[in-house]
Amino acid sequence: MSIHISAMEGQIADVVLMPGDPLRARFMVDKYLYGAELVSQTRNVLFYTGTYKGRRVTIGASGMGCPSIGIYSYELFSMYGVESIIRIGTCGAYSTELSVYDMILAEAASSESTYARFAWGLENDSIVSPGRATEVIADTASRSGISLRKTNIHSSDIFYRKDPALPAIANKYNCLAVEMEAFALFANAQELGKSAATLLTVSDVIPTHQKISADQRETALLPMMELALESTLAI
Ligand code: HPA
Repeated sequence: MSIHISAMEGQIADVVLMPGDPLRARFMVDKYLYGAELVSQTRNVLFYTGTYKGRRVTIGASGMGCPSIGIYSYELFSMYGVESIIRIGTCGAYSTELSVYDMILAEAASSESTYARFAWGLENDSIVSPGRATEVIADTASRSGISLRKTNIHSSDIFYRKDPALPAIANKYNCLAVEMEAFALFANAQELGKSAATLLTVSDVIPTHQKISADQRETALLPMMELALESTLAI
């Protein structure tokens, strides 16, 4: 057991899919996993382990923001022997080059966050997705004819802000979209010699205020969930 995950040794698979939202994790488990077993319920953040097409997979939520995913991914990598984590989430598009429902694969996550510096002494403000997971997802998508935009993303600590201008870091690294977790996930994976990817669906286009509605969200995210699960077969 770790501080924030109550699974026993061996109850977590070597690959973990992490949506931000615990209810989305539960939805994926019900829809896609066979023989799922509840392995942790600390703080009501439920982790389940089961199989997808025979591949053992764990699904559990990261929560929102770098501090939260920083805790869960660290414990999974360092205390449960997890080798790969695929974050699956939503993002806001900074650019009208993107539309709602577009799927994005993060090449690198850039952030103003001090997480990487104070946790690991990593001075870079942009971290390339570590390990093979990103490449495997890109290959799986291209073999299945799924269109996927590879781009740099901004991992922001801020959801609500006064100034609508594009944040300087997003400009510096040409980030087409913003979310709140990938930077800490990538920092942990890089430091611990593990693999991590971030696959996102555009839920809102910031300049036009176009959004996926609450009732469209459930089905809008299915292609991303399926791509992440299919990719685990080659990880
Ligand atoms: N900002 C940060 N994270 C997000 C957003 C956003 O606008 N949309 C979806 N996730």
